[in-house]
Amino acid sequence: MDLYEAINSRRTVRDFEAKPVPTDILERIIEAAFKAPTNDHMRDWHYIIVRDKNVTAKLLDIIPKGITLEDMEALIKDWNLSDSIQQECYRNAVPKQYRMLFDASAVIIPLLKQKTDILHPDNVSHLNGFASIWCSIENIFLAATAEGYGCNLRIPLGNEAEYARTILDFPNDYFMPCFIGIGVPKSDIVSVTQKEINIKERIHWDKF
Ligand SMILES: Cc1cc2nc3c(=O)[nH]c(=O)nc-3n(C[C@H](O)[C@H](O)[C@H](O)COP(=O)(O)O)c2cc1C
Repeated sequence: MDLYEAINSRRTVRDFEAKPVPTDILERIIEAAFKAPTNDHMRDWHYIIVRDKNVTAKLLDIIPKGITLEDMEALIKDWNLSDSIQQECYRNAVPKQYRMLFDASAVIIPLLKQKTDILHPDNVSHLNGFASIWCSIENIFLAATAEGYGCNLRIPLGNEAEYARTILDFPNDYFMPCFIGIGVPKSDIVSVTQKEINIKERIHWDKF
């Protein structure tokens, strides 16, 4: 698959078959993660790959298993989600937050060494480490797509990241930006509509 094909076919996958992703492919995907650009040349990143379903169950235990229709509607209102395509996305995604990770063949936890207080940065460059690991996360998504697999991600809410630290035992100076689920997409998957963007309106030559 060429690069543009991978970019164009990558979608967030939240419905998986109960099939594994082989170890060598997971390793190749993480190798691709390490090819991403990095702010300080160090790539002080680690990736915990959770495949043991007992560990997965413990790790995800803190994530709500679903949402009532009533709460879903309240969330759409509270978050001011007025765009109908955006609403479709949230209606699809929110109820699947637990299942999309539990049903994945593996859950990948990226970790970056964080030297400054990421939640209270003094300036933008204090977020460089965080920005760099997100470049690596996109490489994971694209590499997985090129290998024929699918990925999703969840930003840890509340104390999910601190809870993950206690389950997975990663050191205090490493920061977890997200959970990534990777697996074999269900064959009858219906992807949510992607918002159409008129590229010509978004490119500004020489001046906004
Ligand atoms: C920074 C970031 C945070 C996201 N957080 C979540 C999340 O918590 N849960 C989720 O299911 N998807 C999450 N997503 C995935 C988006 O919902 C998804 O990328 C978006 O709807 C576009 O759909 P597509 O990836 O299929 O093109 C996140 C994506 C990004 C880049």
